[in-house]
Amino acid sequence: MRKVFVHTFGCQMNEVDSQRMVELLGRHAWGRAARAEEADLILLNTCAIRDKAEQKLLSVLGRYRAIKARRGAVLAVAGCVAQQEKERLLKLVPAIDFVFGPDNLARLPELLARAGTERFAETGWLDSEEYLFPAAEPEAARGRATAFVTAMKGCDNACAFCVVPQTRGREVSRPFTEVVAECAALAEVGVREVTLIGQNVNSYRGGCSFAGLLRRVAAVPGIARVRFVTSHPHDLSDELVAVFRDQPRVMGYFHLPVQAGSDPVLARMRRDYTVAEYLARHDALLAARPGIAITTDFIVGFPGETEEDFEASLALLRRARFDNSYAFAFSPRPHTAAQRRMGSAPDWLEVPRAVTSARLDRLLAVQGAITAERLRAELGREVEILVEGTGEDGLRRVGRTPENRLVHVDASEAEAPTGALLTVRVIRAGQASLTGELLARAQVTR
Ligand code: SAM
Ligand code: SF4
Ligand code: F3S
Repeated sequence: MRKVFVHTFGCQMNEVDSQRMVELLGRHAWGRAARAEEADLILLNTCAIRDKAEQKLLSVLGRYRAIKARRGAVLAVAGCVAQQEKERLLKLVPAIDFVFGPDNLARLPELLARAGTERFAETGWLDSEEYLFPAAEPEAARGRATAFVTAMKGCDNACAFCVVPQTRGREVSRPFTEVVAECAALAEVGVREVTLIGQNVNSYRGGCSFAGLLRRVAAVPGIARVRFVTSHPHDLSDELVAVFRDQPRVMGYFHLPVQAGSDPVLARMRRDYTVAEYLARHDALLAARPGIAITTDFIVGFPGETEEDFEASLALLRRARFDNSYAFAFSPRPHTAAQRRMGSAPDWLEVPRAVTSARLDRLLAVQGAITAERLRAELGREVEILVEGTGEDGLRRVGRTPENRLVHVDASEAEAPTGALLTVRVIRAGQASLTGELLARAQVTR
């Protein structure tokens, strides 16, 4: 049996795409290699969101090139860098056999048959009407408590900093019947929690609204918990807020990227909301589900960001008291509006790297203190966790609360089996996770 080794960079979309590619190859008699050294095909599924991601790709390519030279394995590059760079990648790295974009995943067996006789890049798009979402093989999820389920692909927004619309193409929503069927099939093999994924799930239009999709998935027998990522604040509807009021199976966790706390910066970013509008949505979620954990993304050092703009981001962070923030230094990406405009006018001045990195440290320090405080506030509480497996220490079992907080429990696998819903009392709070003691196994009535 031939074997494939997959190295995945980037977001959940790429993780799901990698999984689908392995499943597809499995139907053509390919197995999975645990190490690149044993592989006949080395597949890199790449991310182009920041230059660091691209640099990582170039550095691992060196290692895989050496393995290819020793074993004659095929080296293929998929994902967002493939879509962005196309044939240029073949020129840049002669060891690459072929390059293909996200809309060409389903053709992988056919592309593999061509490899060796020619070097090529397949980066065309499918028409939205033609696009078929590959279905998950539920058996691959057996033994897991959680799974990602694709709700939509692509992004129709035009945030000035972002490559995703170029690398993932137009939005296509997956019909709700397919999404619900996949969740039901996953529940059959023991999955208890599904996370619906898409770059911009709030603009879902797969035969119902996104709120409608959440309600349908929450009604699937066996699915105890529903989550989703990612939401754009300007499409966050009242209907979606209402889901948090009346659907207890939709977990009290919401990732709502704000990017910046200053209106002029948000306008240059083309985010299509003001700080006040963002906070109104944020507060509506808190009112609908008291205790909901809201997390966000910040970009620091966007062109023209002044000290005052940056302090507005800190002020927003202190006001919203996010459960967590993912903060990134601005990275100019090819063919984006921000890259074209950077340096073109006084309000588009490039922020020096040292200034950006000092601001990033300050923001992360403020967030770190808030996260630690919020975790401390959990001390003594009884919370429900869904057990996901054994922790990184190899000893304790780990699960997540509805608010997506990681909880370690001193318990055996028999006491805390994967997929169990347990009630624990929080006895310790760390910088990034909690420790709990076991109280009871929740009654799962269905
Ligand atoms: N679709 C999601 C949204 O609109 O919030 C985000 C997608 S992106 C994969 C995740 C995060 O990467 C963004 O929220 C943003 O903070 C960050 N990001 C995107 N482009 C970036 C860039 N050029 N430089 C730095 N960070 C960037
Ligand atoms: Fe990128 Fe904006 Fe689309 Fe998110 S909404 S993927 S940040 S263009
Ligand atoms: Fe990266 Fe593409 Fe995801 S750029 S973050 S892998 S959509």
